[in-house]
Amino acid sequence: MEHFPVMLNESLEWLDVRPEGVYLDATAGLGNHSRAIAARLAAGRLVMHDRDGESLDQARRFTSDYAERILPVRGRFSELRETLDGLGLAKVDGLLADLGVSRPQLTSSARGFSFMNDGPLDMRMSREENIETAADLVNFSSEQELARIIAELGEERGYARKITRALIRARPILTTGQLARAVEALAGPRRGHLNPSTKVFMGLRLAVNSELEEVEALMRLLPDLVASGGRVVVISFHSLEDRLVKQGFLAHARGGRARILTKHVVRPAEEEVRTNAASRSAKLRAIEIV
Ligand SMILES: C[S@@+](CC[C@H](N)C(=O)[O-])C[C@H]1O[C@@H](n2cnc3c(N)ncnc32)[C@H](O)[C@@H]1O
Repeated sequence: MEHFPVMLNESLEWLDVRPEGVYLDATAGLGNHSRAIAARLAAGRLVMHDRDGESLDQARRFTSDYAERILPVRGRFSELRETLDGLGLAKVDGLLADLGVSRPQLTSSARGFSFMNDGPLDMRMSREENIETAADLVNFSSEQELARIIAELGEERGYARKITRALIRARPILTTGQLARAVEALAGPRRGHLNPSTKVFMGLRLAVNSELEEVEALMRLLPDLVASGGRVVVISFHSLEDRLVKQGFLAHARGGRARILTKHVVRPAEEEVRTNAASRSAKLRAIEIV
């Protein structure tokens, strides 16, 4: 299963890769952005990082032509300071984060993110992490907590209470198919373009992986990770994530620790959206650490 890189040219342009620099791809995924960064390096190095060991293995294979320039490492954003310490690196010259999940993660039935492909209700970005799965949250959370996940993280405000009660009645829910059927039985046919399960699955995914907390941690850490003059480029796909990125960048700019490079958010070109529908909600923002 392929993952088409989103805003690849724009990322490289804003990152302004210097051949002798040390860069950090915080979200290696399938290695598309990593490969393009590594191709621009001479004496420089790329730290290729992802919390998902399976993705990192694929990224390693995809970037094998440049293996001598690449340091692959598994970890989460919130652990990045310790990760760089472990590699003996004080700071990097640029950082890229292409947030969210990759297409193989999203569509593989075994990973449990997809309401289209039935599989175990898992949704952990990394199967090595000993954290609660979506099945744990759906079956063991209190009604109040489940409703909060669906309403706040899934942004399903209108039906959150009703959906929560239906899920509690349908327990135990062990597969993505069971969850999708329980939501659809209640919410009825599609509303507009959106399958009624989309928001419920999104809320659970964000909760299982503490995705918003991770983005907040990344934003906080930036001046400790990136050297003065180095750039940070973040691509987000979700309005809650993009808000955290925007606020994080602004806080650093106000504190005199960064200069905002993208006065307005950068969106993919029409041509990219036509050829890769997954890029349609992408938003890119960039800063320079000062
Ligand atoms: C959209 S994909 C990246 C795709 C990649 N840029 C490419 O084009 O091949 C996002 C990746 O980020 C990883 N990821 C998401 N949140 C993370 C976090 N908090 N820490 C580390 N990796 C994370 C996911 O496991 C996934 O592989």
